[in-house]
Amino acid sequence: MRLSRRALLASTLALAACDRPIGATAAAQTPPKGSAPALRDLAPYPFGTQLISTELDTPIIAELAARHFDQVNTGFELKMEYIVQPDGRLRFEGGDRLAAFCRANGQAIHAHTLVWYADTPDWFARLDGSRRAMEAAYDGYVREVAGRYAGRVRAWDVVNEPVTDEGSDLRDSLWSRNLGQDGHFIRAFELAHEADPNAILFTNDYNLESNPTKRRTFLNLVERMMNRGVPIGGIGTQCHVSVDLPAGALTTALRDIASLGLPVHVSEFDCSLVPDGIFRGSQREREADQIRLYEEALESYAALPARQQYGFTVWGVRDAESWLRRTDYGGDPSDRPLLFDDLGQPKPVFWAVAEALRG
Ligand code: G3I
Repeated sequence: MRLSRRALLASTLALAACDRPIGATAAAQTPPKGSAPALRDLAPYPFGTQLISTELDTPIIAELAARHFDQVNTGFELKMEYIVQPDGRLRFEGGDRLAAFCRANGQAIHAHTLVWYADTPDWFARLDGSRRAMEAAYDGYVREVAGRYAGRVRAWDVVNEPVTDEGSDLRDSLWSRNLGQDGHFIRAFELAHEADPNAILFTNDYNLESNPTKRRTFLNLVERMMNRGVPIGGIGTQCHVSVDLPAGALTTALRDIASLGLPVHVSEFDCSLVPDGIFRGSQREREADQIRLYEEALESYAALPARQQYGFTVWGVRDAESWLRRTDYGGDPSDRPLLFDDLGQPKPVFWAVAEALRG
């Protein structure tokens, strides 16, 4: 049965009007899981999620991830934080397990991330100030990690979050201090390209939809690097949004980001119901706003030229595992930013996304 978009939204809002206590099961809100269409079959481009290999030990997560998504973003286990051991040895069990899962399920891997200002294991931090030693360790790491997954990943986030939160400048980091602001960036891209010539190489940042200054600084960086012949193959805009984001902001941002002509990855989409830890309005109003923002993101993404539709990734499967639930990240344990509830049942926003993907 094909619900018209108006009928679907009416039913969605009617369900949300139940004002159920947050965290309630979705079983009564949506048809049984079996009738949920596979989102990967509806999307005209790769539709992804973020996974950590230990989540595969929960059968419902593995099942939903395989059924609904044809691309997986490695949320943790292809970062230095996981790979680099205190003695400098590298470990790959988590990344290898995700790679095997994706291979078994016909899914592409978006590998995240080689270089990140926030990820500086002691093995590298101890080299701070020793340029040659840092160069050797940095180059060796990028070559080994990108080389290990050569031919097995579709793309890499090579440098993650290069722009400051305020948005006017590029970040100062262990990497930029020792290898140069442009130097560390160019090095990582060139070495990753050498190690895996077929991988699409991205740089990726957040708040590009809510901070036009940051978006401009980020795009200026990308353009400058493109003009220098750096092998940048795509732009990632994370889109960790919340229900207080004004209508139109996502549309404006995606159009601006696409203006460079590169493939665009909406790389980490989620929509918090609790912006800055503050509940504004009823749950019904917040869930309606959340649906509006998912729809706007998908509609404005679909409006991009097909050659620039690299993929759209939701940052996780179930609300229960969302980083936005983690108080150590300033999150709220009651937040519900994703498409499936704590039990893995599709939420009203799932049905709105299915309808939006149908176009
Ligand atoms: O798996 C280990 C577990 O064995 C251990 O007991 C536990 C306590 O140390 O840590 C667990 O690993 C955690 C991992 O998430 C899996 O849950 C790491 O400590 C924790 O640092 C890691 O957090 C990730 C975070 O990036 C930092 O890497 C989040 O899952 C991930 O969602 C978050 O993702 C970032 C993107 O990379 C960049 N954009 C923002 C986004 C959200 O912060």
